[in-house]
Amino acid sequence: MAAGIDDIAIYIPRLFMDAGDFAEARGLDPQKLVKGLGVSKMAIVDSNQDPACLAANACLKIMQKNKLSPEEIGRLYVATESSFDESKAMNSYVIGMLEQVYGAGSFQHCGGIECKFACVSGSYALYDNTNWIRAGESEDKYALVVVSDIAKYDLGSSGEMTQGGGAVAMLLNDSPRLLEFDPKVTSTSIKNEYDFYRPFGKETPIVHGQYSNLLYLIQVKNALNDYKRKALKTGLIDMKEGQSMLDHIDYFNMHLPYSNMGKKALAYLVRHELRNTPKWKEVIAEVGMEEPVPKDPRGTIESIISDSEFMTKDSEFTKRFAKTNTYQEIYENKVASSLIASKSIGNLYTASLYLGFRSCLEYEFQKGVSLEGKRFGFASYGSGSSAMVFSGVIKPEHLQIVKEMNLETEIGERQKLSLSDYEELHENKLEPNQSLLHAKKEFVLEHVENISSEKRGERRYAFIE
Ligand code: HMG
Repeated sequence: MAAGIDDIAIYIPRLFMDAGDFAEARGLDPQKLVKGLGVSKMAIVDSNQDPACLAANACLKIMQKNKLSPEEIGRLYVATESSFDESKAMNSYVIGMLEQVYGAGSFQHCGGIECKFACVSGSYALYDNTNWIRAGESEDKYALVVVSDIAKYDLGSSGEMTQGGGAVAMLLNDSPRLLEFDPKVTSTSIKNEYDFYRPFGKETPIVHGQYSNLLYLIQVKNALNDYKRKALKTGLIDMKEGQSMLDHIDYFNMHLPYSNMGKKALAYLVRHELRNTPKWKEVIAEVGMEEPVPKDPRGTIESIISDSEFMTKDSEFTKRFAKTNTYQEIYENKVASSLIASKSIGNLYTASLYLGFRSCLEYEFQKGVSLEGKRFGFASYGSGSSAMVFSGVIKPEHLQIVKEMNLETEIGERQKLSLSDYEELHENKLEPNQSLLHAKKEFVLEHVENISSEKRGERRYAFIE
């Protein structure tokens, strides 16, 4: 049975930190953010927003847009790594909020859980719900999967320039208008790692930045190798002599902790894909240097990172490679449009990959490119760590949805934060009733109980008309 994404909606907080102001405050060259990382604005949550209300706002948008009633939703999953309760799942809060609009008990028939595996959990949630539909369990109901996160790092840390926040809601069914997932090719890779993690009770993660960058690339490559094996075995693709996956995937959507990670990941994967093809000789001539090899090619990630001679040469090779016509053509045609939204929003953890997908649809449509029948490859990565690679094909009906997409209108009027307001919000110095913006037609957090021991941690939300 077919299954895929029928529609997609985003909710992005309207406050933002400007990269230039941020760089000045931290004594950094603004070009490091803008050019080096591809970050021009970071979406920041107000004092009356938490990941559950971001998720509920995205769900409400997609339900209202499609005129759906709760009876038409069979499952509501939330994937997040910004969880605030060790037991009570975030989708229960979301259902509580939606029932303020649709009526008490209106979602009672619905099932679902909160999923966790850093940024990759949204992809596992999509896959599980796709299989619920494929198994014929859905009784013509939709699955609603919402990915919602607040990417927050310590003040003054190197991760602080890669923050963001927001939610993406995706409606899944058996006759999707946007994208149908390819069956039997979803592939994963997993390993116990400490590249980025957030121990209980700590609001911000412990991060080993450069290690996480390299691990992301390696894990995605491993999952891609397995995807390739499955795609050949199932006959999804027929690879002719001298071809690579690049000949069979029209667009690549990558997890985007910052926009330029998409470029970095593409360069790594393209090198991997072309290395054993006849084209590689031509590429090496264009690059003007041999591809460097680590002293210990079978070594650990730590040993590769500490091989400074290799790391310097490899960085030089990547920079030159990224300037070749071969790479540029692939980048412009297969990835560039997916990176646009991330630049002005930042890292959304679980939601980043899907904001990228949404960005690709909108900006390719604006370029006048016909997407019908095009295959999208998705490279999802979650620290800790696991990668998932899967694909799907764009449906003819996508135009009904894509022609209405407009990132700026969907976010609404944004407000730039001063450094002091940003730092106050970051350090949780403002109460929900001291929010900087006036909410309109959205859910907000009103109160978190912290006095009564019987009710400690209970959250009260309101829908503001
Ligand atoms: P850093 O180490 O300070 O930055 O922090 P850098 O020195 O690597 O510089 C970044 C880029 O800017 C480099 O380009 C520099 O050359 C360039 P590249 O070599 O990569 O092409 N640059 C400049 N460009 C122009 N003008 C200048 C200039 N200066 C430097 N003046 C890091 C970067 C990403 C490590 C840090 O921000 C960090 O730790 N972020 C958080 C962790 C992260 O995002 N990791 C990404 C992979 S792991 C992942 O994606 C999972 C995650 O989303 C969590 C989850 O799964 O839940 C994070």
